[in-house]
Amino acid sequence: MVTILCVATYLKGEVFIRECHRLGAAVLLLTEEGLVNAEWPRDAMTEVHTIPRTATETDIRRVVGSIARRHRIDRVAALDDFDVETGAMLREFLQVEGFGRTVAARFRDKLMMRTEALRAGIPVPAFTRVVNDAEVNDWADRVAPPWVLKPRGMAAATGIRVVATRAQLRPALESTGDERPMFLLERFVAGDVYHVDAIVRNRRIVFQAVSKYGRPPIQIAHEGGVFVTRTLSGTSDEAAPFLMTNERLLTAFELKNGVSHSEYISGDDGVTFLETSARVGGAYISDVVDANLRAASAPAERCAGKAYNIAGGKPHSLLDLLALLEQALGVHVEPTHTAPRPGDVRHTRADCSAASADLGHDAAVSFDEGLRRTVAWFAGR
Ligand SMILES: Nc1ncnc2c1ncn2[C@@H]1O[C@H](COP(=O)(O)OP(=O)(O)O)[C@@H](O)[C@H]1O
Ligand SMILES: [Mg+2]
Repeated sequence: MVTILCVATYLKGEVFIRECHRLGAAVLLLTEEGLVNAEWPRDAMTEVHTIPRTATETDIRRVVGSIARRHRIDRVAALDDFDVETGAMLREFLQVEGFGRTVAARFRDKLMMRTEALRAGIPVPAFTRVVNDAEVNDWADRVAPPWVLKPRGMAAATGIRVVATRAQLRPALESTGDERPMFLLERFVAGDVYHVDAIVRNRRIVFQAVSKYGRPPIQIAHEGGVFVTRTLSGTSDEAAPFLMTNERLLTAFELKNGVSHSEYISGDDGVTFLETSARVGGAYISDVVDANLRAASAPAERCAGKAYNIAGGKPHSLLDLLALLEQALGVHVEPTHTAPRPGDVRHTRADCSAASADLGHDAAVSFDEGLRRTVAWFAGR
């Protein structure tokens, strides 16, 4: 029997965990203390272990070392983007199959992605690290704005800024404070944004799908609107250059086994690599699409003219909400408990039974995941 250690600092991967279990694997979970009571698919897991949010690498190794004494761990699976590095560290520590930290950094550090893609001959926006003042000034003399100043990935909540003019560069850089080396600066490439989702097995791409975002994600983040994406036909002319570039990228980045979600901009100069990750694409969009498709195709006599709640359908306490926000923002807030105020609504809960009965829709995106995306949206503004 194969034993898989899943690392997850967010409530994620239910389908993956269930599938591993169905295929006969033993699934162990390592998650954060705050998520111990989250809705994990417990019937599909052998054990759940927790670590504090502030755990260091040494702490994590100690916990996993003690788990590994009792279980022969064959694989380590990172369920969230933020767990990719921890997963890689643990594979090196336990010496189990799968990629280590060098490969993980290619999928997590936006500066490293740029450097490695450039080396592989894949078109990237003109970019620079922002470590040395003279180097940045020299780059800004050569590359015309607008530019994008963005976190390299370790602190993505800090957000992406568009730097429209040379005069805005210094204040933008200064606002990053001591975190400056953790950012990169690059040319803003105008164009539609596409994503390619892939599965790689034994170095071969066994699945690839190209999709196009309705509007570039940065516009949705700054101006609002509905976040949509549409999958293209794999045999269309529009998809062909993305399929080819993505295959080159994943080969150059040495992803032997795993999944990847990569983004590209289609600008005046053709396909430009935007970013990649060693995880599946966000699942949020699927709920919106599912509810709309079901509303459009359900019998009119059943649903025409009616309003439906599309929501998670489960109540959450304010303290749950606070814990999740703390986690998403990486901060600690001490709550003040006072007497209830007159008019306070003590309990609210969206009743989704009508959507479930008439449309057959049940939200698949968890409350945690939706909240996390909301935080990311505000952080990006
Ligand atoms: N160099 C760039 N040129 C144009 N748009 C960009 C550039 N970098 C980022 N963006 C915009 O910002 C969005 C988020 O940037 P991205 O690098 O994908 O970071 P993340 O998705 O991790 O927040 C992109 O989808 C795109 O709309
Ligand atoms: Mg992106």
